Amino acid sequence: MCGIVGFVGKHQAAPILLEGLSKLEYRGYDSAGIAVRDGDKKAEVVKATGRLKNLEEKTDDGKAVVGSCGIGHTRWATHGGPSQTNAHPHVSGNCSGSASGTVESDVVGVHNGIIENYQELKEKLLKHGYEFYSETDTEVAIKLIDYYYKKYKVGPIDAIAKTMVRVRGSYALEVMFADYPNEIYVARKDSPMIIGVTDGETFIASDVPAILNRTKNVYYIGNNEMARLVAGQAEFYDLNGDQIEKELVEIKFDVESAEKGGYEHFMMKEIHEQPKVVRDTFNSLYKNGTVDLSEVGLTEEDIKGFSGVCFVACGSAWHVGMAAAYVIEDLAKMPVRVELASEFRYRKPVIDKNMLVVVISQSGETADSLAALREAKARGNKVLAIVNVVGSSIAREADYVLYTLAGPEISVATTKAYSCQLMATYMLALELGVVRGELSQEKCAEYLSELEQIPECIEKILDDKERLQWFAAKFANVKDVFFIGRGIDYAISLEGSLKMKEISYIHSEAYAAGELKHGTISLIEDGTLVIGVLGQDDLYEKTISNMVECKARGAYLMGLTAYGHYEIEDTADFVSYIPKMDGHFIGSLLVIPLQLLGYYISVARGLDVDKPRNLAKSVTVE
Ligand code: F6R
Repeated sequence: MCGIVGFVGKHQAAPILLEGLSKLEYRGYDSAGIAVRDGDKKAEVVKATGRLKNLEEKTDDGKAVVGSCGIGHTRWATHGGPSQTNAHPHVSGNCSGSASGTVESDVVGVHNGIIENYQELKEKLLKHGYEFYSETDTEVAIKLIDYYYKKYKVGPIDAIAKTMVRVRGSYALEVMFADYPNEIYVARKDSPMIIGVTDGETFIASDVPAILNRTKNVYYIGNNEMARLVAGQAEFYDLNGDQIEKELVEIKFDVESAEKGGYEHFMMKEIHEQPKVVRDTFNSLYKNGTVDLSEVGLTEEDIKGFSGVCFVACGSAWHVGMAAAYVIEDLAKMPVRVELASEFRYRKPVIDKNMLVVVISQSGETADSLAALREAKARGNKVLAIVNVVGSSIAREADYVLYTLAGPEISVATTKAYSCQLMATYMLALELGVVRGELSQEKCAEYLSELEQIPECIEKILDDKERLQWFAAKFANVKDVFFIGRGIDYAISLEGSLKMKEISYIHSEAYAAGELKHGTISLIEDGTLVIGVLGQDDLYEKTISNMVECKARGAYLMGLTAYGHYEIEDTADFVSYIPKMDGHFIGSLLVIPLQLLGYYISVARGLDVDKPRNLAKSVTVE
C-alpha cells in the first residue's frame, strides 16, 4: 500500500531514492515520484505513471535531478485513480500535476496510508482559498500542514502536530518545507516507517529492504510521533511537540536476503528458501529437546489460564489459522476460533476474556489485523502476535511476540512467511498440549522429531519440481480450478487456491470436499481442473469419492498425496507426490507443490509473478 523513501546526506539524493523505491515497488506500482532539493533552492518534483522504470527513464536514473535532500513514493491508488496528477509528491501550491519541474510551494510531501476525513478537511481548506489539483487525500494533508504553518506562524513540528490532531486515519508522512533546506520532517500513525542513520546520512523507508545496503542501524518511530531529520541525525517529538529519546536498533537481516540471488523471480527464490527459514523458525523455539516459548514471553502459568485460542488474520495468514485450528484442537484439546480480521474488528464478537487471541501477520502492519489486535486488547484479552517483521506495529502492541524467521519477503504472494507461520503454530500447539496435560513429553518428542524432518522433505519436493512445471504449461489456459480437501487438507486447499488466483488470474475456489455437492458441483464441466488435496489418511477415501463425483461430470483430476498412495493413479489423471508425514503437519509439505503450480502457471501465462495486478504486499488500508 504505497512505499515511501527519503534521504538527506552527502550524496545525490535522486539515485538513492530510486534505488530505495525499487526495493519497495512490491508495496505499490501504479505510479511513482520524487521531490529533491539542492541546498536552499526550491524542490524539483518528477512523477511518472506505471512502473518505476518510467520514472528512472525520465530522470536518467536520477542523474538529471540535482540535490542531496529528497523524498520519494511508489503508489497503490486509493483516493483517485492511477494518474500523473494523483501521483505523489503533493504540494501546498496549486500545481504538482505536471510531469516534472520546480515547485513554488512552501510544503511538499508524500504519504502512505489513508486520511479518512479528507473531504471535510478539503471543504475547510477550500473556504480558506486553497485550490486542489488532484483527487487524493494526501494533497489535503499537505495543504492542511501549510495552512497551520502559516496561520499560527509556527515551526514545522508544531504545524504537523496540529495537522495530526485534525486528521483521522493512518499515515506515514514525509514533508519538506521551503524555509528549512536540508531537513525532512516525518510523522507516523498506523503506517510503517523506519529511519536509518549512518555516518553523516539519514534514510527513511516504509520497510527494511529499501535501506538495508546503506545502513543496518534504525530507529522505529512510534505511533503519533514526529521526527526532524538532518544529515546523520534524527530528533523525535511527541504530539505536544516535546522532544523524546529513542534507541538505535540494529537490524539482523543481511543484504543478500533482500536480493533475487540468481532466481528469475523473488517468489521462486522465496519458495526455495523455505527449508532454511522453516528450520530457523523451528530451532528458535526448540531448546534442550523440547519446545521453549520463553522468548515469546508465554509462561506455563499464562497457558494454564487460557480457555481457548482465537486466531485473527487476513489472507494467507488466516489460512494458517485455519490449519492450526485442527492441530490445536486435536493436540491440546482446546476450543479454537479462526476469524478474519476485517470481520472481527467490526462484528463485536463475543469471546471469552480468557481466550488467547493470536494475530498472525507477515508484515505486522496489516490494518485490519492491527485493528483486531486493538479490539481484542480493549476487551481484556491477551494477544500473541506471530509476526515476521521485527519492530512492526503488531509486534509492538501485542502482549507476547513470536517472531517467524522468514527474513524479508518481497514477492507479493507469500510463501516462506506462510510456511514459517505454520511451523510457529505447530510449536504453539505442542506447548499448549504439554502444559495442559493433554500431550505426554514422549508424544511431544515424537512430534518434534517429525517437525525436524519438514525442511528436508520440502527440499525433496523442490528437487522434483519439473513435473509440476510440465503440468502447469499444459493447464496454463484453464478457466476454472477447484481445490478440494477435508480437515487440514481443506485449509491447505484455501492457500493453494489463493496462490493460483492471485498470481495467475485464473478463477479458482477452495472447497471442503464434502461441501461441493451442496451447490458448487453444478460449476463442474468438461475440462474443469479439480485438485484433490489428500494428506489426511483417515479422510483419504472420502475425498477420493468427491473427486470421482467431479470426474463423472467431466473434470480433469489432479491428486496431491503422499508417496505410497499409488492406487490414486486409478482415479486421478495426474498425481503429485510428497513425502509421508504425520497428518497434523503434512500441510507444510502439501502446500509446496501448490505454490509451485501457481508460480509456473503465472510464468507460463507471461504474467508479473512478483507484482500481480491490483495487489500490494502490505495492506495498510482497510
Ligand atoms: C497472499 C498474501 C496475503 C497476506 C495478507 C496478510 O499471498 O500474501 O493474503 O497473507 O495480506 O498479510 P500479513 O501477513 O502481512 O498480515
